[in-house]
Amino acid sequence: MKKKLYSYDCPSTKRGSTSGIINGCSDGIINLNNLSYKWAYNLWEMMLANTWFPKEVDLTEDARQYRKLLPAEKRLYDKVLSQLIFMDSIQTNNSVDNVNPWITAPEVNMCIVRQSFEEALHSQSYAVMVDSISMNTDEIYEMWRRDEKLKSKNEFIGNVYEKYGQRAIDGDDEAKIYMIIANQCLEGIYFYSGFAGIYVLARAGKMLGSAQMIRFIQRDEVTHLQLFANIYKEIKKENPSLFTNTVIQNIKDMFYQAYELERDWGYYITQEQILGFSNPLIDKFIKYLTNQRLKAIGIEGIFDDEDKNPLTWFESFSSFNEHKTNFFEGNVTNYSKGGISFDDL
Ligand SMILES: [Fe+2]
Ligand SMILES: [Fe+2]
Repeated sequence: MKKKLYSYDCPSTKRGSTSGIINGCSDGIINLNNLSYKWAYNLWEMMLANTWFPKEVDLTEDARQYRKLLPAEKRLYDKVLSQLIFMDSIQTNNSVDNVNPWITAPEVNMCIVRQSFEEALHSQSYAVMVDSISMNTDEIYEMWRRDEKLKSKNEFIGNVYEKYGQRAIDGDDEAKIYMIIANQCLEGIYFYSGFAGIYVLARAGKMLGSAQMIRFIQRDEVTHLQLFANIYKEIKKENPSLFTNTVIQNIKDMFYQAYELERDWGYYITQEQILGFSNPLIDKFIKYLTNQRLKAIGIEGIFDDEDKNPLTWFESFSSFNEHKTNFFEGNVTNYSKGGISFDDL
């Protein structure tokens, strides 16, 4: 059931904004002085502190380098972009259309709306990247219709959202859990062969502006993952009976499917032709991510001995720690002014 925008039936109390993160009674008023979920406000502050703008990333050098990429590198770059374009396009609407309607905590609704804005910003960054390389422009934007492998990945992701999205809005609480898991798969697994692919090019000194753009995007995605992990944990705390063995098994199955899909996508975009990003490494990397995402919501990882990132350089490429990022020579600017850490959540 879609929540009401406001309601006189739920008087405000000293206990916070709502009686529950789902199916809660809330008057709908955003009163940041009377919160039920303090972490949401902390996360909101962090999202604001992370504000950045795609047009401020310098891609001049990328435009020149793109023309000199090896065919396998160019293919990788194009396919990564076309897949990211699809995912952020649907994500912009999914969070506000399919999730926000049944979250009954105004401060969490705020974060979801901000998330949606950031997904749109990511779409803009892909447009800036495609425009700056100004080759293959239409091809990249049309690839989602023509590339069969890309099509099947996108359709799988889209179908899961379609399958559970309406059911969640109609009041099916189990479907709400699966929508959260689908979000974690998308933001925490399906983006990552692409992110790593761009960082691999950057490791070879290529497309550094693009890598910088991806770092900004990835930093946003980390807050989105945290947002949905916290929503999941609150639902679990407030509705423990929903989390039956069957539901937990279904969650694990969803993550396993995500692993398979992303592993195969990683193989496809690299074709064993990208130095430092071989098939065994891709497989281990996606297994590691899958375990991490499960642990973040309190479920044991499904893969044994996959608790270390096999791409040992990945963290340093995605990190904003200045000591670790001096190999980025472009216009590297850390807009983050806040000192908020996830420990505060
Ligand atoms: Fe995004
Ligand atoms: Fe996201």
